[in-house]
Amino acid sequence: MVILAKHAGFCFGVRRAVDAVEKNISQNLVTLGPLIHNRHVVSSLEARGVRCVQSVDDIQKGETAVIRSHGMPPEAYERLAALGIPIIDETCPFVKRIHDRVLEARDAGLPVIIVGEIGHPEIVGIIGWAGEDAHVVYSEEDVSALPDMDEAVVVAQTTLPEKKWEEMCALLHGKAAHLTEFCSICSATRERQDEAKEIAEKSDCVLVVGGKTSSNTQKLFELCKRYCKNTYHIEDINELSLEKMRFDGIIGIVAGASTPDTMIREVLNYMIENEKVLPIEGEEIASEVEAANDAVDESAEAASEASAAAEDATEASEETTETAAPEASTDEVTEASETEADNATETSEEPEEASAQASEEQTPTEPEKQEPITEQDEFLEGLEKVISLKKGQLVKGNIVQITDEDVCVNIGYKSDGIIPKNELSLTDENAKDALTVGDEIEAEVISLNDGEGNVLLSRRRVEKKQNWIKMQENVGTDKVYSCVVKKAVKGGVTTKVDGYSTFIPASHLSLKYIEDLKQFEGQEIEVTLIDADKRQERLVASHKTVLLKEKKEKEAELWNNFNKGEHITGTVKRLTDFGAFVDVGGVDGLLHISDLAWSRVKHPSDIVSEGQEIEMLILNVDTEKKKIALGYKQLQPKPWDLVPEKYHEGDVVMGKVVRIVPFGAFVQLEPTVDGLVHISQVTTHRLERVEDELRLGDEIEVKILEVNADKRKISLSRKALLAPEDKPAERKEKFARDDHYNYELPPVQESTVSLADFFPKDEE
Ligand code: F3S
Repeated sequence: MVILAKHAGFCFGVRRAVDAVEKNISQNLVTLGPLIHNRHVVSSLEARGVRCVQSVDDIQKGETAVIRSHGMPPEAYERLAALGIPIIDETCPFVKRIHDRVLEARDAGLPVIIVGEIGHPEIVGIIGWAGEDAHVVYSEEDVSALPDMDEAVVVAQTTLPEKKWEEMCALLHGKAAHLTEFCSICSATRERQDEAKEIAEKSDCVLVVGGKTSSNTQKLFELCKRYCKNTYHIEDINELSLEKMRFDGIIGIVAGASTPDTMIREVLNYMIENEKVLPIEGEEIASEVEAANDAVDESAEAASEASAAAEDATEASEETTETAAPEASTDEVTEASETEADNATETSEEPEEASAQASEEQTPTEPEKQEPITEQDEFLEGLEKVISLKKGQLVKGNIVQITDEDVCVNIGYKSDGIIPKNELSLTDENAKDALTVGDEIEAEVISLNDGEGNVLLSRRRVEKKQNWIKMQENVGTDKVYSCVVKKAVKGGVTTKVDGYSTFIPASHLSLKYIEDLKQFEGQEIEVTLIDADKRQERLVASHKTVLLKEKKEKEAELWNNFNKGEHITGTVKRLTDFGAFVDVGGVDGLLHISDLAWSRVKHPSDIVSEGQEIEMLILNVDTEKKKIALGYKQLQPKPWDLVPEKYHEGDVVMGKVVRIVPFGAFVQLEPTVDGLVHISQVTTHRLERVEDELRLGDEIEVKILEVNADKRKISLSRKALLAPEDKPAERKEKFARDDHYNYELPPVQESTVSLADFFPKDEE
């Protein structure tokens, strides 16, 4: 038995590039490097005038450069533009997505790590877009050689095996404190590798068909070899050797993304035709080949649909048998019957032994030993003709009638196609109103007979497929969708995005941990798509990405509005030994302890408390590092500024002896405001030393002799209060007068009265 992988042959990116070259072949094309990793295709193109060069400078005037699916670094585009050479850019969209991502990282100043094979053209292109801070790794040693990084972005070569990606990411987390993983393995590759593994596991022998220089074919070979030791890598049918290779039991055939259909078909036919191989059923061959072709035609996204196509092909062949049976007079069926009759006649002329065997194995699909290739091809061609219309097929036709219930389309088939009202559009209930008789419309065949002999069609399904492709293209992008959360389930919530079942993991619902997911039920939220399950047409979405983006935008706007020297109001969020963090509208600014008050502060809690709203001055803004320095004391009056208002000549005040010098004692009236009691004003009698009368820390009553706020000097006298005329009751009265100065001065760090300020005066 032969199993042909459904995901065999050209992938979406390769198919796109080959088609573009075919379409523009008359334009003097030059490919930068081989268009695909298949020498047969490249030589065939060369024979048709498509040159292959290694450098942009090898391109001549009048030629058009084709950029292959691997992509190129930006410098190549610049050089081509400078030389005035037109380009056909066939960089695979999956590769382009990596370029965009690494460019984003580069703009953000982040290093980029690429997991892939150094020197591979795709990697060369990615490095170009990632800039100088790009590192390519493929082994543990490569990772060890990397410098330690605070933050980095890691991407993968599109053909990297999933397991390798996981291993490398695990190692890279030890190198970068914050590692953003962008798993850029192409889904076509992933599906191809998954299927190859599956086939290798159940096969006795595997043939991997594809170019020897093709990285993805090489990886398929290594993968299959791991699960089936009888695995052979052949570039084409010429390398197939029945003598050297062991073919028993189940034979699996897989092919790389650069392997043309014709080559796969050649190998498949050869295996079937060979005596040593058990031929598979004719219908199966047709289904397999068709499925593989569908996979090629419908791009990488259609990988999951290929399996459906295989199923549909089987269904269609059943349906066709049903439908075609009454019309056995058609040319095709007659031809088939004639062939059968001929075969039967030929078989009856065989020797007895062979005849017995032939009659046992004789089926209309059995390949003839004498002319195997021709018969096989005839069979396939014949089958394709019979299945001219099948379920799931897309057809185009012109509208011939529009009624309230349906739209009738001429699809060039023996009967018209009918699109019922509810199959007209995925979203637009009034889609019919936009249609006119004569319009061309594309629809999918739902059934060959709607019960009234018409072909039942659906436009809705086409839209759904197109929509699905669009949805997949939007995975990993900023495209925002609105959805209503349906239900909280284990690990997240479910919803529908554009009609597709979608799962939002709990970790992607909010910026913080959410205990009870039920609170989201019924809520309308915005999401972006982060993954797509192609087989089941399901999506994985994230609300967190939207919240993060909003937060970033809000922050960016905020930062633009912060200007040094402006006043700002904020709420004290957190106190630390070195200051307070203040929320100034979604951003935390630092209010350093030294900027809390003019006097020395032991702890920020002496001045502010958590939750308190305060007005501050913006001292500095660093938009790059997202730091903002705030000042509180700067908006408070300096203690000396209030001195003229608070202290007057003749006032009697209390103070504390804070410093004793040979010529007197400094008395603190309030933090940062000190006055001097000259030695001659300490007491009524002559003093040799101030210490004989006063001690540090003494609380004393003094009379203000002079206030000079400009020079920050206050002269005090204790002696004046010790005079006989002094009456304690009067002094008390004087203190009472100061009560109206209930302004609370913010403390200052140090006294502004300098010892030097007093020397000249005394010497004079
Ligand atoms: Fe593109 Fe994937 Fe093919 S990246 S070139 S579709 S293998």
